[in-house]
Amino acid sequence: FGVPPARAAGRIPVTIGHRGVPVRAPENTLASIDTAAGLGVRWVENDVQRTRDGALVVLHDTTLRRTTDVERRFPGRAPWKVADFTLAEVEKLDAGSWFDRRFAGERVPTLKRYLRRVEHNRQRLLLEIKDPARYPGIERQLVAELRGSGWLGPARVRHDLVVQSFDARSLRTFHRLRPDVRTGFLGAPKAADLRAYAGFADQINPSQRGVTAGWVRSVHAVKGPHGRPLEVSAWTVDDGDRAVALARMGVDAVISNAPQVVEAALAEE
Ligand code: G3P
Ligand code: CA
Repeated sequence: FGVPPARAAGRIPVTIGHRGVPVRAPENTLASIDTAAGLGVRWVENDVQRTRDGALVVLHDTTLRRTTDVERRFPGRAPWKVADFTLAEVEKLDAGSWFDRRFAGERVPTLKRYLRRVEHNRQRLLLEIKDPARYPGIERQLVAELRGSGWLGPARVRHDLVVQSFDARSLRTFHRLRPDVRTGFLGAPKAADLRAYAGFADQINPSQRGVTAGWVRSVHAVKGPHGRPLEVSAWTVDDGDRAVALARMGVDAVISNAPQVVEAALAEE
């Protein structure tokens, strides 16, 4: 996320809004990233999947059930997988009311609209390819969409974008297609295995639960595909004290459902 020497000087980790600010607005919606922008949260994380007719959309679960009114609108279509719905159908859904009536009418955003809004808000994006094994070819499609939306220019690639996944194979594929784009592997490989990941990942992004200072040091000791030390973004950190503890362990970023809480705690530190 930044310049490695600053880490040695005790730099404050970057705070990333997990799916936006899901404690304040419905996750993975434009309202959620606007809320992040309003709170001064520069980095947001999202999840990308694909509809039946091939549109990339921003959604976390593989089904539309939890975060939209799909069950009421399409009662006969259980289990409501996003991959079984067309974009036109998805765009009819209300992705806000489940969270709060104030957000009625919020939509599941297409990736294209989402990227436009992140750019408009001058935010930066940690984009997760969610469950890529379900969506063959999604890496190439993502590259095309990022390029078409102007997200693969050199400045943007250097500062504004990281692509991450739990799926190492997918991440390797994405890295081969666009080696200039930074990538993050979601997981916590053992120190002995880090070099293998460093062939295609710039970041190792673990659940915050098992993180130790020693493990963070072992990650930082390995150089990634761009010749810089691997970075660590820990998720999901909603407690200020825990964020401070992780900062002391040297993590480079914390991914949070309550980025405003975490940022305030880190600023006080
Ligand atoms: O960015 C890390 C985190 O988003 C990974 O878990 O399930 O929230 O996508 P999940
Ligand atoms: Ca995610």
